[in-house]
Amino acid sequence: MLRTHTCNVLRPADAGQRVTLIGWVDTVRDLGGVLFVDLRDREGITQVVFPAGSAVLEKAHALKSESVIQVSGVVTKREAATVNGKIATGEIEVVADALEIHNISAPLPFPMEDDKADKVSEDLRLEYRFLDLRRQRNLNLIRLRSKAATAVRRQLEEDGFIEVETPSLFKSTPEGAREFLVPSRLNPGEFYALSQSPQQYKQMLMVAGIEKYYQMARCFRDEDLRADRQPEFTQVDLEMSFIEREDMYGLIERVLKRTWKEVLNVDIPTPFPRMSYQEAMDRYGVDKPDTRFAMEIVDFTGTFKNSEFKVFNTIANSKGGIVRAINAKGLADLTQGELTFLETTAKSLGAKGLAFIKAEKGEWKSPILKFLSEGEKAELKAKLAIEDGDIVFFAAGAFDQACAILGRVRLEAARLLKERGKLTIPADKYNFLWVIEFPLMLWDEDEKRYLSAHHPFTAPVKEDEPLLATEPEKVRGQHYDIVLNGVELGGGSIRIHNPEMQKRVFEDILKIPADVVESRFGYMLKAFSFGAPPHGGIALGFDRLVTMLAGRTSIRDLLAFPKTQRGQDLMAQAPGPVTAKQLRDVRIAVVEDAKKA
Ligand code: AMO
Ligand code: AMP
Repeated sequence: MLRTHTCNVLRPADAGQRVTLIGWVDTVRDLGGVLFVDLRDREGITQVVFPAGSAVLEKAHALKSESVIQVSGVVTKREAATVNGKIATGEIEVVADALEIHNISAPLPFPMEDDKADKVSEDLRLEYRFLDLRRQRNLNLIRLRSKAATAVRRQLEEDGFIEVETPSLFKSTPEGAREFLVPSRLNPGEFYALSQSPQQYKQMLMVAGIEKYYQMARCFRDEDLRADRQPEFTQVDLEMSFIEREDMYGLIERVLKRTWKEVLNVDIPTPFPRMSYQEAMDRYGVDKPDTRFAMEIVDFTGTFKNSEFKVFNTIANSKGGIVRAINAKGLADLTQGELTFLETTAKSLGAKGLAFIKAEKGEWKSPILKFLSEGEKAELKAKLAIEDGDIVFFAAGAFDQACAILGRVRLEAARLLKERGKLTIPADKYNFLWVIEFPLMLWDEDEKRYLSAHHPFTAPVKEDEPLLATEPEKVRGQHYDIVLNGVELGGGSIRIHNPEMQKRVFEDILKIPADVVESRFGYMLKAFSFGAPPHGGIALGFDRLVTMLAGRTSIRDLLAFPKTQRGQDLMAQAPGPVTAKQLRDVRIAVVEDAKKA
């Protein structure tokens, strides 16, 4: 190594030693006669002094922030008055007698101090990601990710899992997210699809007798991106043979418990609570409830069946229509702007409006108050525990829509309450939750057919199998999601391992044409007819998991080289154009207006 020590280890006991350090110039303080440099490497910072009248001082005047230098000198105890309590090496400094400048940094595109850098646009920081990552706090996030991966691996290895890599170049399959296509030069006119997840390969590994498979799997999905989604991301992907759902709950609880312990030194209690999909939707409006705060949804469909208020009355009496409400306690002081925002949010989910009742100064205020009977008001007051300062929001509509609206309004209201200091959620509150008993199929109104709630390989709950032929929407799947603080960390299921059942789901329920089933999934059905073991698995979104561990909100912070919402790598400038020859090789013609399309 070019150094004798890192920048975080020297202490008063080392005084008198001659050492060599190498790293980045964090700060330079040039006092004319004497010059101080805070030298930084990934471990920490050490102060280096270039003493008055020394030969090295001359050279040191050229130093700029973020230049890379190698310094030799003697460790010296600092005077009590100059001790820096903020850094681990604050009691010493290195008095330099030799300086090698490896690389002078160009002027920086943004300041590197956290408080200033955080205010710089994310695009600029991503263009200079190599600098942004160099900031101690960001390096620590990457370290945390590595530590979490190690904890996960240790537990899975202890549990007898075998790591197997599966191909990224896969084939296009219907169902699931939009895929990235890769043209095949050797098979002109044909395409690979980048693997959305190793789902089918891992099931083949079970047929192959691996019994316990895992992989830190890279997955690719051409989705619209959000704070918690990237076009390529990592799953802790695993699959096991000869198991039931309970085995999977136990395993994942061990993995997460160990990870939280090793990374944060936090003991998370297990087993995790469980909630059915139906209960999650009824109480929280979503299948990934944030149970750290209440504000639960209350049903008033019965209450409004004879109401004077036409809107609620009509919906309450229509098939599948519901009227529900939440009480955002203490939020009656929301501004007109905030109210409009909530209304717009509700409307973006298909609502006609967002009826509300404000309780202020002993009075209820609401655009619908004049339509409400005394009985209705009394029922609202009792069931929602309405007090002065509260605001109640209503959603009336089809089940899915009303749930989605109140589920979203609930989260937004919680955010507004947090901003006002009226709702506090401790940073170290980790509400893990299994959401179970999902329906196997959900009716898709656009496509006028059933779609898998999870994926088409999920096995139905045994006792519901007879309903497959008659009322598929009533069949529950052996599907489980692991949710943390309102974020879907992962999901999986016990799979179908019987070829007839799998074929039935593809063709009779999902209505995938037989020839498509044969061309896309034929090999799976074939494999299942050669002795497929009962099996099941799960995938944890690893980027989301580490984001939660780090207490962040954007998964981009936890990726070394994330892509923007437009799917771009601003540092390397991907995606980018290719040459005409490259296109000819793969027989692709780019239409003129592709850029505009
Ligand atoms: P699923 O599609 O639910 O299941 O994905 C599992 C988990 O992966 C994470 N995830 C993502 N993370 C970041 N960016 C994305 N674009 C993204 N998409 C998904 C989520 C999600 O819970 N093969 C099945 C699993 C199985 O059945 O075993 C699967 O992929 O945290
Ligand atoms: P209207 O009588 O249609 O003007 O509606 C009265 C109030 O109810 C307005 O504040 C609307 O925003 C609201 N509203 C209308 N339809 C719904 C609905 N389906 N769910 C919740 N609120 C609604």
